[in-house]
Amino acid sequence: MSSRSGTYGRVVLPAAGEEREVSLAGAPPEGGPPAGPVAAEQQEAASMEPDGAGRISRTVVTGEETAPFAGVSPLERLEMELLLEAIFRHYGYDFRQYAPSSLRRRLNKRLEAEGLSTFSALQDRVLHDAAAMEALLRDMSVNVTGMFRDPTFFRALREKVVPMLRTYPSVRVWHAGCASGEEVYAMAILLEEEGLYERSRLYATDMNAEALERARSGIFPIARMREYTTNYQQAGGTRSFSEYYTASYGAALFHARLRENVLFAQHNLATDTSFSEFNVILCRNVLIYFDRNLKARTLRLFGDSLSPSGFLCLGRRESLRFTNVEGEFEELDAKERIYRRSSLPRPSQGHGGQAAPPRGEAGKGTRR
Ligand SMILES: C[S@@+](CC[C@H](N)C(=O)[O-])C[C@H]1O[C@@H](n2cnc3c(N)ncnc32)[C@H](O)[C@@H]1O
Repeated sequence: MSSRSGTYGRVVLPAAGEEREVSLAGAPPEGGPPAGPVAAEQQEAASMEPDGAGRISRTVVTGEETAPFAGVSPLERLEMELLLEAIFRHYGYDFRQYAPSSLRRRLNKRLEAEGLSTFSALQDRVLHDAAAMEALLRDMSVNVTGMFRDPTFFRALREKVVPMLRTYPSVRVWHAGCASGEEVYAMAILLEEEGLYERSRLYATDMNAEALERARSGIFPIARMREYTTNYQQAGGTRSFSEYYTASYGAALFHARLRENVLFAQHNLATDTSFSEFNVILCRNVLIYFDRNLKARTLRLFGDSLSPSGFLCLGRRESLRFTNVEGEFEELDAKERIYRRSSLPRPSQGHGGQAAPPRGEAGKGTRR
């Protein structure tokens, strides 16, 4: 029996020999004041940021990568590893290669929320209580996002990538780790304004089914529209941003046309493989949560999933420097973290994992 499901709004949590469907309904709504999660994301991102001289800081090289459990007792480390192993083997979610510092922060938060004092106790709880596992999943999946986040990145896309996309008969874009989809709607708007949307197909994936459900709805908090309007204008938007949504009862409903060419589907970068070939891959503010090995696996996956001369876009604090694929890409815009594939991947480097399409609609009709 497969442990994967195409059902939206639910996560199939496979137990030995059976499947259990667990609703993620009840997750805290996205779009409230982002200070907390944004701050946490920035804190985690800082560990991957190159210093002023363009080198990755010592914290990363010596702290996070070679002594990932510094300051943790051997027993606590063992308990944490067993917890992650149990989650992987029982539920199929693989957090074993996430960056230890943010992992510990999140797991400690869960310990506190559950009123427990050890990771062993948390392991017992999540193995026997699906609701506790749902709560852990929500904590592990940081969904903070926004429309035209980092406006100068979207301006660079418009000015440096779009002219090349114009020369293609069709455009395929993969948003890996799209959270609740704001980045995808922003891309759809940009492509629409540049006359490319008709011939574009956007694949929006995330491991979090509940976030994808929000993305699919196209409904976002009206309170954030002022911020998004400013971002849109700074990103080179040429119309009135309010043209793209209808305001109703405190929410902004984005026009259905913007998701006509979008396929939302579950895909886990830690365990799933490539499912198509893309001209552009955006994976922004996701790699900061991964350790060096998972980062390498994910970048290998992207290298294998890009068309020749395809574009790879990372988050503001993420970089290809000192990674396994650095030699396969050239920097198109170093500041905005936009890269272009310049050589074929080396055949010996597999990204591992099982070949599987993403769960959901996007799985239909995809190549692999
Ligand atoms: C901070 S959000 C980034 C959203 C958007 N890309 C942006 O930059 O605004 C990180 C997202 O990565 C997703 N994520 C984390 N680990 C993942 C994995 N192994 N596979 C797929 N998505 C993952 C989380 O669920 C979350 O939605």
